Amino acid sequence: MTKTIIESFKIKSVEPIKMTSRNQREEIIKTAHYNPFLIRAEDVLIDLLTDSGTSAMSSEQWAAMMRGDESYAGAQSFFRFESVVKEIFGFKHIIPTHQGRAAEKILFSIIGGKGKTIISNTHFDTTRANIEFTGAEAVDLVVPEGKIPSAIHPFKGNIDLQKLEETIKRIGPENIPLVMLTVTNNSGGGQPVSMANIHKAKGICERHNIPLFIDACRFAENAYFIKLREEGYANKKVYDIAREMFSYVDGCTMSAKKDGLANIGGFLALNNEEWATAARNLLILTEGFATYGGLAGRDLDAIAVGLREVLEEDYLKYRIRSITYFGEKLTAIGVPIFQPPGGHAIYIDAKAMLPHIPVEQYPGQALVAELFIEGGIRAVEIGSVMFGKKDQQTGELVPAQMELVRLALPRRVYTQSHVDYCVEIIENIWNRRNSIRGLKIIKEPPFLRHFTAHFEPVK
Ligand code: F0G
Repeated sequence: MTKTIIESFKIKSVEPIKMTSRNQREEIIKTAHYNPFLIRAEDVLIDLLTDSGTSAMSSEQWAAMMRGDESYAGAQSFFRFESVVKEIFGFKHIIPTHQGRAAEKILFSIIGGKGKTIISNTHFDTTRANIEFTGAEAVDLVVPEGKIPSAIHPFKGNIDLQKLEETIKRIGPENIPLVMLTVTNNSGGGQPVSMANIHKAKGICERHNIPLFIDACRFAENAYFIKLREEGYANKKVYDIAREMFSYVDGCTMSAKKDGLANIGGFLALNNEEWATAARNLLILTEGFATYGGLAGRDLDAIAVGLREVLEEDYLKYRIRSITYFGEKLTAIGVPIFQPPGGHAIYIDAKAMLPHIPVEQYPGQALVAELFIEGGIRAVEIGSVMFGKKDQQTGELVPAQMELVRLALPRRVYTQSHVDYCVEIIENIWNRRNSIRGLKIIKEPPFLRHFTAHFEPVK
């Protein structure tokens, strides 16, 4: 056995990336109002903004795209897609959508509404926004360890089962149309959920007659963590672990832009016939006919192949190792990160790294700006810019639980030397961290403000 775990692929097609000078980057970030979403991609050297839709597709996926059947109804591409999704996820009804949030929008339009509550370990921002948009409430019940970046626990994405039970009793099961588990828990450090937790959550939900769904975006990474960390799974195939995960639940939403290894796509999969019929009707209204749901036939084919490739063990071994490698290097320098490293990203604890910047001056967003200025790295804040709220009475910031900066690694895109470069840049910032200043918001939209808000350095 060798020590080095290598990329489980070789490179057939390359895309140049552009170096810029520090002066240029200072100008670029200023023009983008210190918001990474407003930077042009061509000005970014290493793009760790997201692992969503940014995967490199395999030669098999590109070949499958050429077989795409673009018929409006009943395309072969749909049946290839449906058969893979049914096989892995095991649900009766498979409804393609153009991406994950479209599946969320349709699902919550059917079951949400005023007076309803949807419980999760941690809702992702689009999930929360889609729930709240219907007038329903979104509640997060992750285990206490999941909110402490430095706490070591193998499954920090688990839902707090006792709180789940209590919350159901308090709110009343008739007001809770659904419980959802986000695997891995993106807003909580990309941490996995254990099989036992899924199984027990299902037990609780079943007793109260509430369906349990999974937000399946990173299901393969979660399944691999179960193999690595949960007793009894070391010798099981990740494929079988994934199937077992879904066997306990009633449906899922999926963004194929993550563990579908595709650049676009998603689906809603479920067993409930009545919900499926309502979902298909809405789908036709907003996405497209039931056999393409806003996607081209070729996209469905790329997803069908991607869902198989993402469960290959050599790929997952490399994938999880590359994130861990990144995390170990930063930890060795002293940079506080969400521990242990998750499945798709490293999350720097900006509150711990920049204690001199108050949360009202968004330490995470300030670090995001520094990453770009220092080395052309694009990251995203997952803290009070993304999840902070304004107090209705005082107008003051109600900060998020944590101030994190996510460095998400696109799948099969960057190599070890790209990671080493990022570590060096972060070390440079670490060494001059006391001189970093906070930011203030000068313009923001009513919801999902992180995408378009404008910032300015605090004087
Ligand atoms: N659920 C989770 C856990 C996600 O991480 C995302 C997207 C979605 C749902 C929505 O899927 O983008 O296809 O509509 N996360 C991306 C990210 C955007 O950067 O983490 P989508």
